[in-house]
Amino acid sequence: MEQVRVLFVCLGNICRSPTAEAVFRDKIYKAGLLDRFYIDSAGTGDWHIGRSPDPRAKQHAAESGYDLSALIARQVNEADFPCFDYIFAMDQQNLMDLKAMQPADFGGQLRLLLDCDSSSEVREVPDPYYGGSDGFHQVIQLIEGACDSFIEEFRDSRQSAS
Ligand code: 4NP
Repeated sequence: MEQVRVLFVCLGNICRSPTAEAVFRDKIYKAGLLDRFYIDSAGTGDWHIGRSPDPRAKQHAAESGYDLSALIARQVNEADFPCFDYIFAMDQQNLMDLKAMQPADFGGQLRLLLDCDSSSEVREVPDPYYGGSDGFHQVIQLIEGACDSFIEEFRDSRQSAS
């Protein structure tokens, strides 16, 4: 069975998108679906290529039970598009930057991550980099809600396909 390929994208790939990658992987593992998914993250910017996630992101994730320690930042590029079924942008700027590099024949879905979560009043995962601890906490909460909704959407679509 083919894997569903999911890419999470933010600006630096050291705070939001690695958090989303780890949260989603954890939830997919707990849902017994790990073999059905290939999961990755990347940033639109190049400043942090090759670096570990921000220590604040690592710490907040660890406090919620998610491990970011193995992740290494990379930059998204046009060649990523044919490799993924879903590309989730954390904010509108990420989405605009991705749309600008999207090949005309991209057959997957490019959308804001929080568009998955109809119960969320917030549409963007706010950039926590220049803020305090609250911002990192909010990132995890928003991402958890969106990942739960996406997994539900995936299960529903699988059920209606069978
Ligand atoms: P991220 O956060 O996009 O969630 O990884 C940021 C990380 C670094 C910078 C901005 C946002 N920066 O300007 O270096």
